Formats: sequence, C-alpha cells, structure tokens
Amino acid sequence: MSGEAKTPGEDPWSQWLLHRRHGGDARFQHVMRAAVDRYVERVLDGAQLGAGQTLVDVGTGEGVVALRAIERVGSTLRVLLTDVSEPMLRHAEAQAAERGVRGQCTFLRCPADRLEGITDGSVDVVVTRSVLAYVADKTAALREFHRILKPGGRVSLAEPVFMDEALAASAIRTVIESKPPEGVSPFMTLLHRWKAAQYPDTEEKILSSPIVNYSERDLIQFAKLAGFPEVHLELHIDTFPSPVRSWDVFINSSPHPLAPPLAAIMAEHFTAEERQLFERSMRPIVEDPKGISTDRMLYLNASKPLG
Ligand SMILES: C[S@@+](CC[C@H](N)C(=O)[O-])C[C@H]1O[C@@H](n2cnc3c(N)ncnc32)[C@H](O)[C@@H]1O
Repeated sequence: MSGEAKTPGEDPWSQWLLHRRHGGDARFQHVMRAAVDRYVERVLDGAQLGAGQTLVDVGTGEGVVALRAIERVGSTLRVLLTDVSEPMLRHAEAQAAERGVRGQCTFLRCPADRLEGITDGSVDVVVTRSVLAYVADKTAALREFHRILKPGGRVSLAEPVFMDEALAASAIRTVIESKPPEGVSPFMTLLHRWKAAQYPDTEEKILSSPIVNYSERDLIQFAKLAGFPEVHLELHIDTFPSPVRSWDVFINSSPHPLAPPLAAIMAEHFTAEERQLFERSMRPIVEDPKGISTDRMLYLNASKPLG
C-alpha cells in the first residue's frame, strides 16, 4: 500500500469505501453509487427473498445490499450483516438506525471463510458483493455459505473480474523487458510503474493474488467444490463512456480497496520530472470525451439441495 495518510478510526476498507473510491468528488460518488445500486438490484433479484426469511450479507461494507433487501421485503426480514472491518460495521449500523431498521439487523465481525456465530442450516439466503475478490480461499468461504444455509437455501453474489487488468500490467512489463532500455519510451516505463502498483504484473504474483487469480469459470468450480451441485453464472461485460473526466478525480481515486491512487504512486515512485511527463501524456487521455471504461462483473446463483 501507499504512504497515504490514515484517518483515525478507519482501516483500508473504510478509507476506500467512504473516500478513495470516488476520490472525494461528489459527482463521481453519485455515478459510483448508481453503478453499485445496479449490481445490488441484480444480486437481490437472484436472491428471490420472501417475507419472514433470514438473510446474511457477507462483507456488508456500507450495508447497501442488506438495507436494500429490507426495503424490498419489509419488516419481516431478519438480516445478519458481517464484515472484517469494525469501522464499516459501525457505519452500516448507523445507516440502519437512520432508516429505523436497526431492530431487524445483527452485526457480526468475522471473515467470509469463518462465519462464527452463525449456526449450521439457519439462514434462507446468503448474499455478497465484491468480497470474495479479497478472500484467499474462495472455496472455504463458499463452504461456509453452504454450511449456514437451510436445505433449499440460496446464494446470490456478484464479484468483479480483475484478471484482465493484471494481464494488461504483465503485458506492459513483457514489452518493456523485451526491448533494450534505450528502446523503451519513458512514458511506457511510468505507465508500467503505475499499473504494477495497483495490480500484480508477473505470472507468479498473479497466481498468488486473490484479487486477480480467478476467472468466472473458476468461481463455478469453487461453488461446486463447496457442495453446490447446481450453479448458474452470468458474466456481464459492459463498456461505456468513461465516468472519470477530471484529472483530480482520476489521480485521487483507485479501482479497488487495496490499490493506492495514482497521486500516491506518483508521490512515492516518480520524480518531479517524471510526474510532469506522465501528466502531459496521460491527462489528455483522461479528459478525452471519447474515453471508454470497461466493467467485468460476474453474477452467481446456487442452491443448497433440499436433502
Ligand atoms: C469492495 S467492499 C464491498 C462492500 C459491500 N459488499 C458492497 O457491496 O458495497 C469489500 C468489503 O469486504 C470486506 N472484506 C474484506 N475482506 C473480507 C473478508 N476476508 N471477509 C469478509 N469481509 C471482508 C471489507 O471490509 C469491505 O467492507
């Protein structure tokens, strides 16, 4: 991680979710929230929740999935919100209190692959969004989901697929290494320094990084290994006009909680001259109204057999 300043009472997860995800920019925060809302609706469609059920939202963050589930189902839904981040659990609890639904919620601090305090076969639905990406043993987490589900219970989840970003970082490294140093453009070197600070850039590092070492097909395999015989997965790849057009937002935001923002990477790894050179080349690309972003999100549904 970078040498970013830490706000007291926060951790890397809350720093990213509450600040760095949108680079402190209200307009971009609004755009991000709209995107998250779309993912959440899709996860809850797959959950097929009913009145009187119990839902677990694993790695709840701000509580967006759980709180939207309560909005959809109403006062009979019981919700357990889990996370490894104490600041995020407190944040989600405050959100629940603000909406007057605190009484329907239980907050548990535990990792996705050890859902301590949740008894076997006790819940109807497990949902999670953008959490397994940060869990090293995804099969162990899915096994825990299987353990706590009642027979006939369902998992509905959404996870980003970041593998392509790491392969791009690795490809830039390969190009640089294949040329004599004098044949490599200074911009290319800086581009690699930036990308490699946010994503693993060698085969060895990619294989050992939980964020990038899986594809949609691996997730199906993990779910089967965890005891779900019936699995449905959809990969959604969306390209759209880039939502970031401001250089300030671009350098102060980052694509995932463990990635430092470009501003921190430049401060730590670039000389003043390199920063100027990089901004001169990169800024017109960021500010180009024809800029395109790509989003790769997988949605997985699975049911625990009835008996
Ligand atoms: C990208 S955020 C997603 C938050 C939320 N699910 C959402 O949809 O907005 C990742 C969340 O996973 C949590 N997390 C990270 N590692 C975890 C783990 N091993 N087990 C459970 N939660 C974890 C973080 O604290 C953070 O709240």
